[in-house]
Amino acid sequence: MDEDRVKTTTEGDRRVATTGDIEVSTYLEIAKEMGGAQSAAAAEAEGTGERETIVVIDFGSQYSLLITRRIRECQVYAELVDHDTPWEKIESLNPKGFILSGGPASAYEPGAPLALTYIYQSGLPVLGICYGMQVLAKQLGGQVTSGIKREYGQALLHISEVDSPLFAGIDNPAQVWMSHADRIESMPPGFRSIAYTENSPIAVMGNDSGVFGLQFHPEVVHTPQGKTMLRNFAYRVCGCRGDWTMGNFINESVERIRQQVGDGKIINALSGGVDSAVVASLIHRAVGDQLTCIFVNNGLLRREEVERTFNVFRLNLGMQINFVDATDRFLKRLKGVTEPERKRKAIGQEFIKVFEEEAKKLGKVDFLAQGTLYPDVIESASSGSSVSAKIKTHHNVGGLPKKMVLKLIEPLRYLFKDEVRLLGVELGLPEEMVWRQPFPGPGLAIRIIGEVTREKLEILRSADFIVMNEIKKARLYRPLWQTFAVLTDVRSVGVMGDHRTYGYLVGVRAVTSEDAMTADWARMPYDVLARISNRIVNEVPEVNRVVYDITSKPPSTIEWE
Ligand code: XMP
Repeated sequence: MDEDRVKTTTEGDRRVATTGDIEVSTYLEIAKEMGGAQSAAAAEAEGTGERETIVVIDFGSQYSLLITRRIRECQVYAELVDHDTPWEKIESLNPKGFILSGGPASAYEPGAPLALTYIYQSGLPVLGICYGMQVLAKQLGGQVTSGIKREYGQALLHISEVDSPLFAGIDNPAQVWMSHADRIESMPPGFRSIAYTENSPIAVMGNDSGVFGLQFHPEVVHTPQGKTMLRNFAYRVCGCRGDWTMGNFINESVERIRQQVGDGKIINALSGGVDSAVVASLIHRAVGDQLTCIFVNNGLLRREEVERTFNVFRLNLGMQINFVDATDRFLKRLKGVTEPERKRKAIGQEFIKVFEEEAKKLGKVDFLAQGTLYPDVIESASSGSSVSAKIKTHHNVGGLPKKMVLKLIEPLRYLFKDEVRLLGVELGLPEEMVWRQPFPGPGLAIRIIGEVTREKLEILRSADFIVMNEIKKARLYRPLWQTFAVLTDVRSVGVMGDHRTYGYLVGVRAVTSEDAMTADWARMPYDVLARISNRIVNEVPEVNRVVYDITSKPPSTIEWE
């Protein structure tokens, strides 16, 4: 049993929290309304050709997706499937081996989820991790019991079978990370213990047919050589070639998009974010001007953002972009609106109206392209029963264009965010766009506390520009998850020269994070903070005080609204 599994989240909509980008949230909603389920099924049917796959069987561990990601980092394609997925689906993936994930259950309890028998009958290698190890021990004739002592945290792994392919290049002893209560009492016939820790005489077991069980978690960063063990499993045990590269992905996708689209017309909304940018360039590479991008300036973007996006796509990549400056409409709609959720809703509804109007101008359109990512797909497939409090709406859509019946193209639906960035680089997008920090759909509107006005937007843009500029100069842009300024509703007294001032208070927020679900405030060097503060109060006349936000998430959120 994974002891640390239950880390309940208070996040209302994890899809957005995971990716942080506007387009995922927005278009998932559009997709739902437009029959996204059909498109998901169609995409499933696309299959993955002859590409080799390590199939990760999900028993509900919080790390299941991480295992998948680690394998892919080794240039081997991995896909996460539910533990009761039928063989037909697995077979279409061209499986080379299985990994059984951890999970919250106890293998000896009645009703505990088990691996389907095709896994053992296939003759393919299997790697069970934590609960996955206990499952395979039990199913193959061993015995699992509740451990006397819970083992949690770091442990030293002593390797007794040093020539096992799993341990090639691994230190002995090696540091590993444990999180379990149950243990293997007796191994199934044909298995032997090949490594142990102080508390686990059978920390790793294996047989001669390439079936292994690990009591620890190789996928987490606290097992420093865990990725090498997973790589060993994929290459040395399963015999994978390592055909998962972004170059191959582009070739396959271009082919698939051409087949799917024929001579149909596609639209895509560019947001300036990395996902929509990558989708647009990939589709453009496949079908050229059959794609039209719609770029809506909602008046809530950062300084120079509109020009930069426009230049990259129209001028550098020669793409067809319909640019709409809808600033006035959005600002009118936001007049008098102060409550964060009402802001989000107003912006979402207006966006849809503008988008729909623009799409209509194009005549008959057949497809809507969107930047759905793999974690979104997994999340929407598995989150049906999860109940969590709604903290923020996190999407920009209120009323949706039901009449617009479009088929979906989601070329990134099997990719992780870091793969999308690599793909962006491979497609020749500028570094700056590929490594862009997440920016929320409602833009600067949720960084202005209270009513959004033209004047306040300009103040915030000036302050924010300085923050970004200094962060980039200090080479902190990429290591930080997000960095930005917030314009508060507070005014305070200051003194400039011999004059009293009464100006706005600006908050500076900089956080580190892995996925936006949790975040920590960045321990920024004082001199960078000093330069930011100095420049803001000197260069933005309406501001006379700057504060730095030193709260983590939770209990705060990343954005102030
Ligand atoms: P919070 O503020 O909830 O934000 O910690 C987590 C991540 O989501 C982004 N965010 C949004 N993204 N629409 C979006 O597309 C929204 O309404 C929204 N609100 C927050 C935020 O920037 C961070 O990356």
